[in-house]
Amino acid sequence: MTNLHSILFLFSFFLFTQQQWCLQPLPAVEDGFVRINGTHFTLKGAPFYANGFNAYWLMDVASNPCQRSKVMSAFREAVRSSLVIGRTWAFSDGGSNALQPSPGVYNENMFQGLDFVISEGGKFGVKLILSLVNNFNDYGGKDQYVQWAKELGQQMQNEESFFTNPMVKSFFKNHIKTILTRRNTITGVMYKDDPTIMAWELMNEPRCLSDISGATIQNWTSEMACYLKSIDGNHLLEVGLEGFYGTSLSQKNPNNLPHGTDFIANNQILEVDFATVHSYPDQWLSNRDNYVQLDFLQQWIHDHIEDAQNILKKPVLFTEFGKSWRQPGYNVSQKDQLYNVVYSSIYRSARTGGVAVGGLFWQQLVHGMDSYKDGYEVILTEPSSTVSLIYQQSKKLSATHKRFIAKKKTQSTKSKEIDANKLV
Ligand SMILES: *[C@@H]1O[C@H](CO)[C@@H](O)[C@H](O)[C@H]1NC(C)=O
Ligand SMILES: *[C@@H]1O[C@H](CO)[C@@H](O)[C@H](O)[C@H]1NC(C)=O
Ligand SMILES: *[C@@H]1O[C@H](CO)[C@@H](O)[C@H](O)[C@H]1NC(C)=O
Repeated sequence: MTNLHSILFLFSFFLFTQQQWCLQPLPAVEDGFVRINGTHFTLKGAPFYANGFNAYWLMDVASNPCQRSKVMSAFREAVRSSLVIGRTWAFSDGGSNALQPSPGVYNENMFQGLDFVISEGGKFGVKLILSLVNNFNDYGGKDQYVQWAKELGQQMQNEESFFTNPMVKSFFKNHIKTILTRRNTITGVMYKDDPTIMAWELMNEPRCLSDISGATIQNWTSEMACYLKSIDGNHLLEVGLEGFYGTSLSQKNPNNLPHGTDFIANNQILEVDFATVHSYPDQWLSNRDNYVQLDFLQQWIHDHIEDAQNILKKPVLFTEFGKSWRQPGYNVSQKDQLYNVVYSSIYRSARTGGVAVGGLFWQQLVHGMDSYKDGYEVILTEPSSTVSLIYQQSKKLSATHKRFIAKKKTQSTKSKEIDANKLV
């Protein structure tokens, strides 16, 4: 080795060790990732409880630079109401204006829309849950994946081969990898390293009616969860389930029906960090009156909190609930009653450090989005009893997080004082 070489060698060694040192992960308390400690979430070193919103449209709208102010308004209005968890789609599959127009081919314009959503989420202090594919046909979904493989000669019975066909599974894994390893063109941070993202969701509302035993969904979930965690160990992962129980407990489901998923077994998979529940008594029990629907809801939420606490020993997030004004007999006090049941059940659990993390209503829109109205929308700048209820309940829930932070600070000040006393 010449002198120059050895100098270069030493220099690069020095750089290498410096870099290693710089790359030391920050203490968990400070790094801004939402994590799990036992049966609750933590953020800033203290138990984290918060409500939030669904806005599936964020990426789609942000892909048009003239419309981006709507995304900012959504975050601004949400945060003002203490809604700091946002759930949205990180997919749109097939068709000319999709994120993934064909397998493995990505639309950069749409991806920059998602970059913007994540970058703004970070600025406004909203934690995001990004869902990776749809069970249903909106924005492509499992049916689109199956069509793609059929066009390449695969023989399949129906769209539920999404969960089993090896080519389809490899398409989906490629999507997972593409999203997780995307480098945000605005922040420069890879999605898998971005603490603005709170969690990945495998699928919006997986169901498999062709195998109600649950084995198909169980196997698929397990395979995809392992794959995702092999790329990203920073983020939490959830499945996107509505909370339907398997055949042995299907009497707890609306109309006693199984859907090929199993709230217990699916969420027991090691790589699944927390459970999710959706609640639509107005659709599930559409021919029953409001009181029957509310009774069902109360029991449904109670069962899931109990099972998360006692069997799963994992946190549970109520990732969708709502009531549509399009249902016959609707009035706004029914909507408020439904929101109240969800929020107060969560608060009862959260107040004492329990498993219920928060609730995300379906769905938040902002002014000027009439074409997105689906009957369930809430526009936070349009005053209503529902909007005030959201504001009050969410403020109350977020105060629990603030109380836990304050308690933590007092404890650490005390232990520092003790340490200081020891030194004297
Ligand atoms: C996790 O919880 C345990 C027990 O509740 C507590 O002692 C510990 O400080 C917590 N850790 C973090 C990082 O919050
Ligand atoms: C699920 O996986 C197990 C173990 O690999 C296998 O034996 C079983 O056949 C699979 N079931 C389905 C329905 O895919
Ligand atoms: C709304 O509906 C409930 C029954 O579902 C009824 O008891 C109540 O009086 C209605 N409120 C108004 C303002 O119409």
